[in-house]
Amino acid sequence: MVQSWITSLLVSAAVASSAGIHGFAANVPGSIGRRTPSPDVVTDNFVPVRALHHPHSFRGQKGRYRRQSGGQTNISDYGQVRYVTEVTWGKETFDMMLDTGSSDTWLLQKDYKCLNSNGVQVPKSDCSTTPTFSGNYTGGQIGNVNFNTSYGTGIVAGTFGWEDITIAGITVHNAQVASVTEAYFPTSVSGLFGLAFSSLTGEWPGNDPSKNVKGEYQTYEPVFYKMVNQKLSLPTFSFAPQRNGDNGYLSFGGIPPVNTTGKTASTAILSNQVTSTVPTIERDDFYNIKIEGTTVTAAKKNKGKTNTTHFQSFLAIVDTGTTVTYLPTALSTIIANSFNPAATYVNTSGIYEVPCNATAPKMAFTIGSVNFTISPADLIMQPQFDSSTGLCAVGFQDGGNDSPYTLGGTFLNNVLSTFDLGALEMRFTALGRNNWK
Ligand SMILES: *[C@@H]1O[C@H](CO)[C@@H](O)[C@H](O)[C@H]1NC(C)=O
Ligand SMILES: *[C@@H]1O[C@H](CO)[C@@H](O)[C@H](O)[C@H]1NC(C)=O
Ligand SMILES: *[C@@H]1O[C@H](CO)[C@@H](O)[C@H](O)[C@H]1NC(C)=O
Ligand SMILES: *[C@@H]1O[C@H](CO)[C@@H](O)[C@H](O)[C@H]1NC(C)=O
Ligand SMILES: *[C@@H]1O[C@H](CO)[C@@H](O)[C@H](O)[C@H]1NC(C)=O
Ligand SMILES: *[C@@H]1O[C@H](CO)[C@@H](O)[C@H](O)[C@H]1NC(C)=O
Ligand SMILES: *[C@@H]1O[C@H](CO)[C@@H](O)[C@H](O)[C@H]1NC(C)=O
Ligand SMILES: *[C@@H]1O[C@H](CO)[C@@H](O)[C@H](O)[C@H]1NC(C)=O
Repeated sequence: MVQSWITSLLVSAAVASSAGIHGFAANVPGSIGRRTPSPDVVTDNFVPVRALHHPHSFRGQKGRYRRQSGGQTNISDYGQVRYVTEVTWGKETFDMMLDTGSSDTWLLQKDYKCLNSNGVQVPKSDCSTTPTFSGNYTGGQIGNVNFNTSYGTGIVAGTFGWEDITIAGITVHNAQVASVTEAYFPTSVSGLFGLAFSSLTGEWPGNDPSKNVKGEYQTYEPVFYKMVNQKLSLPTFSFAPQRNGDNGYLSFGGIPPVNTTGKTASTAILSNQVTSTVPTIERDDFYNIKIEGTTVTAAKKNKGKTNTTHFQSFLAIVDTGTTVTYLPTALSTIIANSFNPAATYVNTSGIYEVPCNATAPKMAFTIGSVNFTISPADLIMQPQFDSSTGLCAVGFQDGGNDSPYTLGGTFLNNVLSTFDLGALEMRFTALGRNNWK
């Protein structure tokens, strides 16, 4: 789930002003960045990840840099797939959604105020009833600051505190986390575990989020940074989901025990300054990488010839918090036309849909000179059935003109991904067929 464009701008402003106003220098710990790549050895520090099918429409995810303005569509059979894992706060364990598209870690607090997509309070019955946090932090609340941020689909505000966070067998003492007292968060998990760079964290001065002043944003050490600084992990984590299943993994300081095949690709994590004109953030923020090329071989129609199209390079964010993959318009059009029969853009759902029994094209992304093929199960998302059209969702959608694009779950299901914050690079290896379902 990528944070809104507004938030990114605010972060940018804070980066520029934080040293002057708040008296602390760039908050990048020594162990993060500027190191040689960490070895990809199998580690015991892994935790199962399950794919949670959540009934919530796709629309709204599209404007990933924008705060949402409209309401939700109501194609109730549709779902987002969320990658969820168990995380212990103090002594209590919660289901949290893994998000490499943001950096704050938070839980909904008991009796939180339920908001709609416009931030207006609505009856509690409109919000999901997932287990919630007491608000009693083990290490106490942090005074005179508040938490307030928004996502492609979500608005949250609350308090910060110090908590002992246990994940994958590692306990990070006194990590800074948030307890959310008001939320629009239409996902049936207790909270979100943010795994992106510290430059995307959101701490505001003062106790009242409604009094936050644009630009007076400060950053802090996210949970994973603290884990690294407490020398509990090398500065890498790896993600290997199981499509539609409960046997995926997240691991810290090494790779999880999964079967892979073929070469491992390495590619630099590019900062936004290099890759995008707006927003300009002079720091590493998202896991932004270069897709060197895409090859799409259309499914054969009748006795026609196969038709292979090569598409030029583009930039994309690796985001476990986004279900589908968002691509340049021209590429998404090529893909849509390469199904047999072709996919159609459905106005009511705002996405490309295709007959569930269609033949998918063959598709591969080239990253770090290695080709990664996409399973047909990610091109035609069988569980994402639109009852109003009788069609299935296509896993690769139009991301418009706002580069960087997004590599979501439909790409990540095919690979073991390693996020190396020491070397500032991503590594990918194709998952073996045994991991496919
Ligand atoms: C969808 O929402 C519209 C407007 O709120 C409503 O009129 C319609 O009945 C809803 N459809 C379904 C299937 O819930
Ligand atoms: C939180 O702490 C307060 C004050 O110590 C206590 O009264 C309350 O019962 C605690 N709540 C929970 C859910 O532990
Ligand atoms: C979050 O901060 C904004 C100002 O940037 C403010 O308008 C909004 O009301 C705050 N949200 C909440 C829930 O207080
Ligand atoms: C890996 O492959 C081996 C042999 O094919 C198989 O026995 C094993 O269960 C697989 N492991 C996983 C995690 O899929
Ligand atoms: C091959 O695919 C491209 C891109 O979709 C399309 O423009 C072209 O017409 C196709 N050619 C044939 C022979 O199908
Ligand atoms: C779908 O939306 C587009 C753009 O809003 C519009 O031009 C087109 O007529 C709509 N198609 C249908 C079938 O409603
Ligand atoms: C796909 O399903 C449709 C309707 O459900 C059916 O008419 C068509 O024959 C099927 N096509 C194939 C190739 O099975
Ligand atoms: C990767 O794909 C490109 C484009 O189709 C192709 O030219 C290249 O030979 C492929 N590389 C490998 C190692 O298969």
